[in-house]
Amino acid sequence: MIPYGRHSINDEDIDAVVKALKSDWLTTGPLVEAFEAALEKVVGAPCISVSSGTAALHCAYAAIGLQPGDEVITPPITFIATQATAAFFGAKIVFADIQPDTANIDPQAVEAAITPRTKAIVAVDYAGHPADLDELRAIADKHKIYLIEDAAHSIGSIYKGRQVGSIADITTFSFFPTKNMTTAEGGAVASINPDLLLRAKRFSRQGLIRNPEEFIIEGEGPWHQEVHEFGLNYRLPDVLCALGISQLTRLEESKSKKLDIFHEYSSEFGNHENLTLPTIRPDIVPNWHLYPLRVPMIQRRQVIEEMTAQGIRAQVNYIPAYWHPVFQDRAFKKDQYLNSYNFYQSEISIPMFSSLTKNEISFVINTVVEIINRIV
Ligand SMILES: Cc1ncc(COP(=O)(O)O)c(C=O)c1O
Repeated sequence: MIPYGRHSINDEDIDAVVKALKSDWLTTGPLVEAFEAALEKVVGAPCISVSSGTAALHCAYAAIGLQPGDEVITPPITFIATQATAAFFGAKIVFADIQPDTANIDPQAVEAAITPRTKAIVAVDYAGHPADLDELRAIADKHKIYLIEDAAHSIGSIYKGRQVGSIADITTFSFFPTKNMTTAEGGAVASINPDLLLRAKRFSRQGLIRNPEEFIIEGEGPWHQEVHEFGLNYRLPDVLCALGISQLTRLEESKSKKLDIFHEYSSEFGNHENLTLPTIRPDIVPNWHLYPLRVPMIQRRQVIEEMTAQGIRAQVNYIPAYWHPVFQDRAFKKDQYLNSYNFYQSEISIPMFSSLTKNEISFVINTVVEIINRIV
């Protein structure tokens, strides 16, 4: 079976992990800071590492002080972690529809969804293509609210010459194996705002304060540390940071391989009237995590089943978040956000990962074209 996404692990990765296992540190040691420093170079802002992309989002919402009754505006086409971690603070999840070409949140829909209770706009860089960050930044600034970027798909992507991670108030990343790089499980939070990053860091490290200048309890001794706000344990261990450091060295290479795959798919599928291709907007360099191809809605299920029968496992990313039964009290209609509904009904994520071979790429292309020609 050719999967839709696959991690890439080489001998250097393995050596780095073995070396970390043989060192004096398993969890927080020198490789945590080394990984965070290496990440900073790639994303253009200081970073903290955490144990997953979900943890990163949870830290981001903690950092902005999300409270019960606050509203966060999110796109429907995302993994539910974008919403779940805000809901845990008692925030109201507000949806703004996507743009049909990129499946990213539509700034006009965001503007229409703002209320006096809006605390943050959350953009998701779907498939690796950055959202309209300048437009969203302008809306956030105008209303004095936060812009959070869920960049689980887009580490290494470039938006108008700027690194993803250096634009929003807080950007979150995931290093789950199908993503652009991996630490098995893992994630990171980046911020251009030192106060927000410090709050995120404290939340991810049990809320512990070790700086004597901030102590409220005095005179306890050199062992003393204290908690002013509760936090959790979202630390990423040294062993996994070792893998992350090694993976980061191949991020650019894998990005350019995936751009080649993107162009190869697009030049073949572009001739086909029944297929809609992913777009690259001007001045964007995506680090593609997915290749979201759109096929006629009525045949979508059959296309996927026939691909599976021939050894290609396509995925669908994602059912609109408001469809999840966890939102049933809100009584959303299935087509309430029409662009999201239409996108979901026709999307298939076909194999996109750096180790896809020439033969596999041709096989995917020929199989998809043959199925579409036959059944549509
Ligand atoms: C858009 C998006 N946000 C958040 C996450 C959560 O990341 P993780 O699986 O590392 O917790 C994912 C991963 O599936 C994702 O795709």
